[in-house]
Amino acid sequence: MFLAQYSCPICQKVLSFIEKSYRCENNHSFDQAKEGYVNLLPVQHKHSKDPGDNKAMVNARRAFLDNGFYQPLADELQRLYQQYADLAQPVFDAGCGEGFYTHQYANNTNTVYGIDIAKNAVRIAAKKYKDCQFSVGTLSQLPFADNFFAWINSIYAPILEKEFTRVLASNGYLVTVTPAKNHLIELKHLIYRDAKQHDTNKLPIENLTLVEEKEVNYVMEFNKGTDIINLLSMTPFAFKATEKLLDDLKSRKSFTCQADFLIRLYQNKT
Ligand SMILES: C[S@@+](CC[C@H](N)C(=O)[O-])C[C@H]1O[C@@H](n2cnc3c(N)ncnc32)[C@H](O)[C@@H]1O
Ligand SMILES: [Zn+2]
Repeated sequence: MFLAQYSCPICQKVLSFIEKSYRCENNHSFDQAKEGYVNLLPVQHKHSKDPGDNKAMVNARRAFLDNGFYQPLADELQRLYQQYADLAQPVFDAGCGEGFYTHQYANNTNTVYGIDIAKNAVRIAAKKYKDCQFSVGTLSQLPFADNFFAWINSIYAPILEKEFTRVLASNGYLVTVTPAKNHLIELKHLIYRDAKQHDTNKLPIENLTLVEEKEVNYVMEFNKGTDIINLLSMTPFAFKATEKLLDDLKSRKSFTCQADFLIRLYQNKT
């Protein structure tokens, strides 16, 4: 890991790191927090007091991911990275959450960056994964120079094509993970009478070339109610669950549910 290279989120000039703070030539300055991350989200880019996922969602996701339920997805991402990437070039995890996938890219030669708008998540990530560079920021105005990254990772997070393409180097790759048809379908059936499959038709990226598309599908076996509740808390349909259903799930000793991910790998062939 090398020193982080950021550009100023206000004026886009290079930020220099001096005495625990990042500063540009126009004197915009951003202090490094004690956990090692830097908050690069200027108030004018902040549309709510506490943007992004809330503390309960962050904690649920951290517990769920740490129990390894999505490790097969992380392993497939690593296979693609090893197969396609120049392993010494910078990597960016866009909407990195608690850094579970981010840190798996770190090796002895690259620098791995994670950005998320949720400060709670970034704080946890920075505390746990010292081999990555984390910052609070918005994906719609990335604090990086043009063409900086050889690999961008976007997992269940907003895909902002214009900004991602700006910071992606020529021949660099963008990997996106979105839900495939049957993702969590059994959980959805408990909530919606006619649970719909995910629609996977739309290709969200237009100006990069799709080089590979694959699905990762497997069955997760749960034997603890807390794991099921954590999973539910990570979904956009959690708020639809009734108290009765929550009580039922909490007391379950077994539940099986599919994980079904769609991975798309794009290359910047310009
Ligand atoms: C479903 S979570 C996925 C987190 C992580 N990639 C994972 O899979 O564990 C989506 C993340 O995107 C972040 N996010 C949403 N909008 C964002 C934005 N405009 N800029 C940066 N992060 C954003 C949220 O705070 C949240 O952590
Ligand atoms: Zn500046």
